Amino acid sequence: MGLLVCNSSGNLETWKALLKERLSSKRFEHSLSVSQTASALAYRHGYDSSLAALAGLLHDYARDMSEEDLLDFAEANKLIGHPVERQVPVLLHGPVGAFLVREELGVCDREVIEAIAYHTTGAPGMSALAGIVYLADMIEPLRDFPGVAALRNLAENDLQSAILAGLDSAIGYCMDLGMLIHPISIEARNSLLIQKKDKPKEGCF
Ligand SMILES: [Fe+2]
Ligand SMILES: [Fe+2]
Repeated sequence: MGLLVCNSSGNLETWKALLKERLSSKRFEHSLSVSQTASALAYRHGYDSSLAALAGLLHDYARDMSEEDLLDFAEANKLIGHPVERQVPVLLHGPVGAFLVREELGVCDREVIEAIAYHTTGAPGMSALAGIVYLADMIEPLRDFPGVAALRNLAENDLQSAILAGLDSAIGYCMDLGMLIHPISIEARNSLLIQKKDKPKEGCF
């Protein structure tokens, strides 16, 4: 590990040029779109739009690594948070991306790193910035899936409910397809439900 120079206020244009080399053109366009969407959501809801733009831009930094490389890198750097990540290595592109953005680019704002790490799964108690990037990744204008228009509308008016609806949608999608679900997504959903004061707390057995 080299000397870490914090660079969270670094030039977005520099990172864009770097990402253009690193990512496929489709994923590069998606990253620009997530950056813009996250920035707009942050501005609308009173959070730091510059940090949201930065985290959104860099969220998929490791997305074009192969599953084998993600797993090898995560094992070598002790980034495995749960055994399900060994079964579904693509889940690791968040934590691996966060690690690389910190080590290679010198971006060390704690919330930006957290937002990149959790953008795929969400996490209980995640920061507003992490929630914004999670949501922006789902609803950026290039995304198209049933319910995305309603989710975009909700995101304009009620950030927390939109993040919860996003988790519902992602978890439901995985269940419908018989896919593994990362427990941290369930924990994130439970955490948001518990925080919602207006909703009776009922369990499901
Ligand atoms: Fe991603
Ligand atoms: Fe993404």
